[in-house]
Amino acid sequence: MEKILVIGSAGQIGSELTLALRNVYGEGNVYATDIRDAPKDIKKTGPFQLLDVMDDKRLIHFVIRYKITQIYLLAAVLSGNAERLPLQAWDINMRSLLNILDLAREVGIKKIFWPSSIAVFGLTTPKINTPQLTYTEPNTVYGISKLAGERWCEYYHNKFNLDIRSIRYPGLISYKTEAGGGTTDYAVEIFYDAVRNGKYECFLKPDATLPMMFMPDAIRGTIELMETDALKLTVHSSYNLSGISFNPKELSDEIKKIKPGFEITYKPDFRQKIAESWPQSIDDSSARNDWGWKHEYDLKKMTKIMLKEVTVKQRT
Ligand code: SER
Repeated sequence: MEKILVIGSAGQIGSELTLALRNVYGEGNVYATDIRDAPKDIKKTGPFQLLDVMDDKRLIHFVIRYKITQIYLLAAVLSGNAERLPLQAWDINMRSLLNILDLAREVGIKKIFWPSSIAVFGLTTPKINTPQLTYTEPNTVYGISKLAGERWCEYYHNKFNLDIRSIRYPGLISYKTEAGGGTTDYAVEIFYDAVRNGKYECFLKPDATLPMMFMPDAIRGTIELMETDALKLTVHSSYNLSGISFNPKELSDEIKKIKPGFEITYKPDFRQKIAESWPQSIDDSSARNDWGWKHEYDLKKMTKIMLKEVTVKQRT
């Protein structure tokens, strides 16, 4: 039986992925952990403990005690926040991964999931339909840490035969946990401000097109990748994954169709430069060929659900 450890279960991905994993593997078999308290439903539906991924001694005790077979490492400092505290962000993003990789080799963990990002790309990368293999010269601390992380994952796979799986997530849009600190997070904030105030001041320019994905697609894609027969996988760094591409203007136009009074203004800050260094759309044919990936949500469908769910959330 699989025993799964989720690190970062209170975060944007973790708070949804933990529940999805519990549906698949059984509530008692998915151990949620974080350095901060988790949402109620995470604590209600299965085990939750406060745990710091940087504390390698407690981590190894935990893994041995609960006979953990799979680890999802979701704790990270995102792009905007990492630029504010570069060395701390590098330390947290890298040391957490290296702790897990080494522990996995020592204890014999069967499978690991670690998220990478479109932030591994940079100004020299082709922007449209960015290929799986291309120039990767990131300019952000977050991107540099993700690129280095990808190389470490492939290294541990080649050298120690560890089964590590990874996705280069596009910007993720979700309503359960408010995102924080990312360049793509305008596309989450905008919904909260639209519902609360009817207007939003965007920190990117109207035409800053970026690859994005609605969280239910990202969660399904992650579990599908983890369930795929290892022999089918050809990418051992991190898979490109594509959902929807849009810019702030297109998103605000879609919101206006449902909330006609909605107003958007633009005040680009340092994150505009980050956005300009990232692709606009992603070629994910490796994911499509190797494990049958296909996204489901488009801009219209996502906007409708986001507005509805954020409105419900504001009322409760
Ligand atoms: N959503 C992330 C960020 O903007 C990209 O992986 O930092």
